[in-house]
Amino acid sequence: LVASLEQVDESYIMVKPDGVQRGFVGEIISRFERKGFKLKGLKLFQCSKELAEEHYKELKAKPFFPKLVDYITSGPVVCMAWEGVGVVASARKLIGSTDPLQAEPGTIRGDLAVQTGRNIIHGSDSPENGKREIALWFNDGELVEWNPAQAPWLR
Ligand code: TYD
Ligand code: MG
Repeated sequence: LVASLEQVDESYIMVKPDGVQRGFVGEIISRFERKGFKLKGLKLFQCSKELAEEHYKELKAKPFFPKLVDYITSGPVVCMAWEGVGVVASARKLIGSTDPLQAEPGTIRGDLAVQTGRNIIHGSDSPENGKREIALWFNDGELVEWNPAQAPWLR
């Protein structure tokens, strides 16, 4: 009853180039699957400088912005769209703090990363940005609407 009254959100989750290079794609997908969210889009992708700048446009004035864009474009990323009740906030918890040294053990960054500038994963910070980022990184035909009829624990 409670869950049916709650908002179903979408989060854009991305394994950054270091996460792909270090072989964490499967582990990261697995953590979101095990939590119980629904995967709607998934691709390996080499992103352009323009797309990286658009994705991080809110950070354009920050001193680390040029390095951030270089990092995100330094190799392929894995783009994901995940759906579920509270998925945006929950994904941020699963991911952990921006600075991996502050991230709790048990979180993805807390377990697998050390540097803020090499923190292996992105997760949307609001439902609005989840929608914006999924629309930015995926074409319509790349997102799948599927009914978890045989998997009622997903909603
Ligand atoms: P931000 O959106 O603040 O963090 P999060 O990824 O946790 O939502 O920043 C985006 C990315 O920018 C962050 O993952 C890593 C990079 N970054 C730095 O390189 N240095 C910094 O001081 C900060 C705050 C972020
Ligand atoms: Mg952010």
